[in-house]
Amino acid sequence: MGKILLLYYSESGNTAKMAQYVAEGVRSVENSELRFNTIDEANADDLRWCDGLALGSPTNLGTISWRMKQWWDELPPDLWSTIDGKIGCAFSSSGGWGGGAELACMALMIVMMNYGFLVFGVTDYVAQQFTLHYGAVQAGEPREEKEKAACRRLGRRLAQWVAVFIDGRKDILPVHEKLPE
Ligand SMILES: Cc1cc2nc3c(=O)[nH]c(=O)nc-3n(C[C@H](O)[C@H](O)[C@H](O)COP(=O)(O)O)c2cc1C
Repeated sequence: MGKILLLYYSESGNTAKMAQYVAEGVRSVENSELRFNTIDEANADDLRWCDGLALGSPTNLGTISWRMKQWWDELPPDLWSTIDGKIGCAFSSSGGWGGGAELACMALMIVMMNYGFLVFGVTDYVAQQFTLHYGAVQAGEPREEKEKAACRRLGRRLAQWVAVFIDGRKDILPVHEKLPE
């Protein structure tokens, strides 16, 4: 069973709303087990437990929130080099489109890469001119269906990659999967 950790920080609730839709996407893949935590609820054991991690932060000054950075900075030093090979992806809410949410996603992925995670983007379009190549990005909270769909697609893809690469279920290899809108 694919163990997915959805870990996020949200100052004013927008990234938290994204996380709800990412969670829906994870749950759409059968045999996935989800832990859904803010950084205040999670610790190193959650990272040890998971096979896949969806990591979310508000965009702050074009990068991740200092609180998210602090959470990773304060993990036990002996965790490093013991949790390599897990699959990671990112999502971020910014104040506006073009406000740096993709940069924040990249910064989240750099943190995961530092821990040896295998990080990915998604090439699919969930609507015309609307994609999540570097993770799910959002201005404010998801309101339109395509915005919710991008978050769901991220969570679903994470659970699918975990099923394929961790659980060996090659039958669900999800390349350019067409989903009902
Ligand atoms: C300290 C700080 C820095 C911010 N920096 C940016 C930024 O660089 N670009 C941007 O578009 N929005 C920026 N914002 C706005 C937040 O990214 C935006 O309100 C986001 O939706 C908040 O997510 P949350 O509700 O999950 O906390 C900033 C907000 C704060 C408090």
